[in-house]
Order: sequence, then C-alpha cells, then structure tokens
Amino acid sequence: MSTTERTFIAIKPDGVQRGLVGAIISRFETRGFKLVALKLVTPGKEHLEKHYSDLSSKPFFAGLVEYMNSGPIVAMVWEGLDAVKTGRAMLGATNPLSSAPGTIRGDYCLQMGRNVCHGSDSVESANNEIALWFKDEDLVSWESAQKSWLY
Ligand code: RTP
Repeated sequence: MSTTERTFIAIKPDGVQRGLVGAIISRFETRGFKLVALKLVTPGKEHLEKHYSDLSSKPFFAGLVEYMNSGPIVAMVWEGLDAVKTGRAMLGATNPLSSAPGTIRGDYCLQMGRNVCHGSDSVESANNEIALWFKDEDLVSWESAQKSWLY
C-alpha cells in the first residue's frame, strides 16, 4: 500500500561541484514530490561519520567520509507517496556500473566513490537522517494550491 512519507536526499560534493543541483532538484519536483527542507552545508567530519555510522567497519569508510567532506552538500527533505522507495529508484543503483540510464546515477556518474547523491533506504533511516541534518523548525509544512492529485 502507498503511504505518504518523507525522505532525506543529499546532493554530494561532486554533484554540487559539477553543477547538477538544479537538474537533481528538478527531477524530484517534476516527479511530484513536495520540498519540505533545503540547505547548502559543509557539516564536517564528525557529522558525516554519524550519518554513515552503519558503514564504520567498512574498508571504504575513511575514503567515503573524506569524499563527503570535500565540499558543500545540498541537504533536502522531500515528501510524497512512497518517497523513500521512489527516491531510491530515482537515484539508481549504488554502483554506477549497474545504475540504469534514466536514473540520476545512471545519467550523471561513473564511479561508486563519486556517485553524486544519497537517499534514505528505509522510513526508519529517513526519520533518523532528517533528525540528524535538520531541526524540527527547518521542516516547512505547506499546501500546494493544487489538488493533491495534481502534480
Ligand atoms: P548512499 O547511502 O550514499 O545513498 O548510498 P547507498 O545506500 O546506495 O550505498 P551504501 O552501501 O550505503 O554506501 C554508501 C556510499 O558509500 C560509497 N561506497 N563505496 N566499495 C566501495 O568503494 C563503496 N561502497 C559504497 C558510495 O558513495 C555509496 O553511495
């Protein structure tokens, strides 16, 4: 069953540096999701280690944190039907070798270690990530003038 959810989406430093911010935001808007929060940040190593704490035992962890700490990140919360699963589908597979054309990774990148964007992988992770990156008052509740079924 479809449910209205919020997901945390980040444009990683390579996505910002390559000028992909507008293109990525546009995909979420035109798909029909509602923007609830947005900021450009350089959150620092400690914050990024917390964000990826599940991966702390992986051999690529230090390199991942260094990559994420290499420039500003666009942190966003998007809301809508099945936002978590659909957001992941829009991002494409983690390794761009397997990301389908038409997905963000499948269209914009070549390397797993520079894969342009992040998206929460479950509703529980989304809630934790939103709480890590945003204060409650940063999350904006608003209604479109359109009917809910019109995008
Ligand atoms: P993300 O959290 O960034 O959305 O990525 P994901 O769920 O698709 O993949 P995950 O396994 O959580 O990995 C997080 C990020 O770590 C980098 N990575 N490098 N073997 C490697 O070198 C390797 N594996 C993963 C990628 O940047 C991946 O997005």
